[in-house]
Amino acid sequence: MASIETPTLSYDHEFGQHNEQTSQLSRRPSKPALSSLISVHDFEDVARQTFTPKAYAFYSSAATDLVSHQANLQCHRKLLLRPRVLRNVQRAKTERSILGCRSSAPFFFSPAAMARLAHPEGELAVARACGNEGIVQAISSNASYPLSDIVAAGKPDQPFFLQLYVNTDRQKIEALLRSARDLGIKAVMVTVDAPVPGKREADERIAAENIVAPISGAIAENDKKGGGLGRVMAKYIDSTLCWEDLAWIKRVSGLPLVLKGVQTAADAQKAVSYGVDGILLSNHGGRSLDTTQPALLTLLELHKCAPEVFSHLEVYVDGGFTRGTDILKAIALGATAVGIGRPWLYALSYGQEGVQHLCEILKDEMITSMKLSGITDVDEAHPGMVNTALLEPLVNKGEDHPWIKWQPKARL
Ligand SMILES: Cc1cc2nc3c(=O)[nH]c(=O)nc-3n(C[C@H](O)[C@H](O)[C@H](O)COP(=O)(O)O)c2cc1C
Repeated sequence: MASIETPTLSYDHEFGQHNEQTSQLSRRPSKPALSSLISVHDFEDVARQTFTPKAYAFYSSAATDLVSHQANLQCHRKLLLRPRVLRNVQRAKTERSILGCRSSAPFFFSPAAMARLAHPEGELAVARACGNEGIVQAISSNASYPLSDIVAAGKPDQPFFLQLYVNTDRQKIEALLRSARDLGIKAVMVTVDAPVPGKREADERIAAENIVAPISGAIAENDKKGGGLGRVMAKYIDSTLCWEDLAWIKRVSGLPLVLKGVQTAADAQKAVSYGVDGILLSNHGGRSLDTTQPALLTLLELHKCAPEVFSHLEVYVDGGFTRGTDILKAIALGATAVGIGRPWLYALSYGQEGVQHLCEILKDEMITSMKLSGITDVDEAHPGMVNTALLEPLVNKGEDHPWIKWQPKARL
C-alpha cells in the first residue's frame, strides 16, 4: 500500500486531539446558517470564531512577518478592470479544460493538509462537493484520509490531482505514484517551493499534542522552536530533490506533471526544457519563504521575460484569490486556471454543503464579473481587459539585477 495510506489507519486514535477539538468546537459560538454566508470572507470569519485555536492557527498562518501572505491579497486589488459595454451578455460560460480535465469553472482546489481538522469528513466531503460542482481537487500528500478513500468518495471519472512532497524514502514514493496512477489520478503536482518548511509563528505558538502526520507518522512535538504542525509534516521531505528527478517521477507515475511553486521566469523556462506539463505559480499562500513576490507578479514576469512558455505548458496561479474578479483578471492575463487554498478549508467547517456553497459563490461572482466586463465566455478574457499599470514597476525584467554589476564568487 502507498505511504499515504498507512498511518491514517489508526487515525481516530492518533487524532485524539481532534476529538477533543471537536468537543471544544461545540463549546464555541454557534455557526450562522450557511445560507447567510455570501462571500469567501464570511467563511473565514466563521472559521476564526468557531475552529479550535490550533486548527485556525494552522490554516490561517503564514511565514514570519506575513509579508507575502498580505501581498498576495493586496496584489489583486492593484489590477484594474476595463469593462466594455453594450454587448449582449445574457448568458455566460465558465467552463475550462485543465490539463484535459473538464472543469465547470477556471479554478481548482489547491492542495492543503489535514482537512479533518476542519470537519470530521475532511477530504471525503471535499471530494463529494467537487464531484457535484465539477471542480478539480488537488489532494495533499498530507491529506488526513487515504488517497483511495478520497477518490472513492468522488464520482466515477471525477478528476483529481495528487500533490507530491517527495519522501526521503523513494520506494514509498514509487508505491504512492503507482497507486495514484491505478486510482485514475489525472496529474501529479510536485511541490517545489518547500524543500524545508517555512517558519509559521502562529502555528508554532500553539502546542500540538497527539497529532501525527499521516504519511510520515511523525508525531507533533513541542520543542524550543514551538509546536508547529507544518514543521512536523515537512519532516520527511527530501530536500535533495532537483530537476533531474522529474523524469523519474514522470516515468514511475506515467502521469502529466505539474510543478507547484514556480516563482521566476527562469524556472518556468527550465520547466519547459524538462518536459513539464503545467506550472502553478505560487508562493505557497505566503507560508514558505516570506517576502517572495505574489504569483500575479510572476505571471507578469513570464509575459515580460519568457512569453514562449505559455505555448508549451499550462500556467496556473494561486495565493489570495477570494473574489470572482480576482479569478477573471488572472485568466485574462493568460492563466489557464486559479488555485483556491484557505477558502475551501474554511468552508469545510460546514462539510460538503459548505464547500459546494463556496463554489457557487465563486462561480456567481465570476459570471457577474464577466458580464459586467462585457464577455460571455472565459475563453474571451484577454489582457486588454486589465490595467496592469500599478503593478508594472514591480515586475522583474530579467534574472540578473538591472543595474548592480557586482558578482559573488560563487553562483549557481
Ligand atoms: C493549511 C494549509 C495547508 C497546506 N498544505 C499544503 C500541502 O500539503 N502541499 C502543498 O503543496 N501546498 C499546501 N498548501 C499551500 C496551498 O496549496 C496553496 O498554495 C495556498 O494555500 C494558496 O493560497 P491561499 O490559501 O491564499 O488560497 C497549504 C496551505 C494551507 C493554508
